[in-house]
Amino acid sequence: VAPLKVGIAGLGTVGSAVVRLIEQQRGALTARCGRGVRVVAVAARSKARKRDVDLTDIAWAKDALALANDPGIDCFVELMGGSDDPAHSAIEAALKSGKSVVTANKALIAKHGLRLASLAEQHGGALNYEAAVGAAIPVIKTLREGLAGTTINRVYGILNGTCNYILTRMEREGLSFAECLKDAQRLGYAEADPSFDVDGHDTAQKLSILASLAFGTRIAQNEVYVEGISSIAPEDLRAAEELGYRVKLLGVAVRTSKGIEQRVHPTMVPKTSSIAQVMGVTNAVTIDGDGIPPITLVGPGAGGAATASAVVADIADVASGTRALPFGRHSTKLRETKKAPMER
Ligand code: HSE
Repeated sequence: VAPLKVGIAGLGTVGSAVVRLIEQQRGALTARCGRGVRVVAVAARSKARKRDVDLTDIAWAKDALALANDPGIDCFVELMGGSDDPAHSAIEAALKSGKSVVTANKALIAKHGLRLASLAEQHGGALNYEAAVGAAIPVIKTLREGLAGTTINRVYGILNGTCNYILTRMEREGLSFAECLKDAQRLGYAEADPSFDVDGHDTAQKLSILASLAFGTRIAQNEVYVEGISSIAPEDLRAAEELGYRVKLLGVAVRTSKGIEQRVHPTMVPKTSSIAQVMGVTNAVTIDGDGIPPITLVGPGAGGAATASAVVADIADVASGTRALPFGRHSTKLRETKKAPMER
């Protein structure tokens, strides 16, 4: 079988880590997928930028759209970020030409995910976005496939690595908010515009994707109540600690008698609770389903290597032909056209 030919748009922290991981895992991927996986072309803003990755023998496309339209690739991997163009048109073009798409872009999936999923279903390509939520934690697959037979009532957790890293260091070391944020940026955890992290919008985007998968509703990012952590000071964390609490930025989506409620805000959690033990860049997602005890997934939620792990797993699924409907058991078309904003 011919190897899967991959084109990658975006060679920042995550893009470079993906190229490296595919190279490192060459043999294992071939064994697992029954065919090889080769990065044949890339597109990025700067060709000259120094990157810790070997790009010999890889072609450079003019831009993301040209790469998406390149008939020489089978799978378009979008790692540029941004909820709209150029990422959006490039993904659309790739799907329309029947290619499979892998993306880590939660902002884009939260905004256009269901429509892109319909396009993928219509033209036969895959749309895989495991890295969009919880980086290396396989939470999309868990909700979409692993729990396909379970009615889910609540999904909640720590969904932003940058915020949890900042809160952890402020609490443990008494450092200022600004200092911790700078380190999170240096370590490659934060978004290009870190206000998305600290103001809670990144968590809201991820939560709205999880809620759509969990409840079969449309993605309602604009209906999430959002409050971030930027006004929290080390003294607030100390005061909480004296009362026996820690502060965590939580995203919570719950099925209520009035519909699906989604909210993101700093929350005091008892120091002895399991969610209070989640420290640093780690994310945790708990899923409450009917008739089973809660399931919690914990793992690295941001950073190049953690995100690349999920992106490469998505590429491996394309290579091996493992396929799920992008939004699972609920019809994408039906949800997209449904007038009611919430499932009642
Ligand atoms: N900025 C995000 C975070 C990256 O800190 O969680 C992973 O989505």
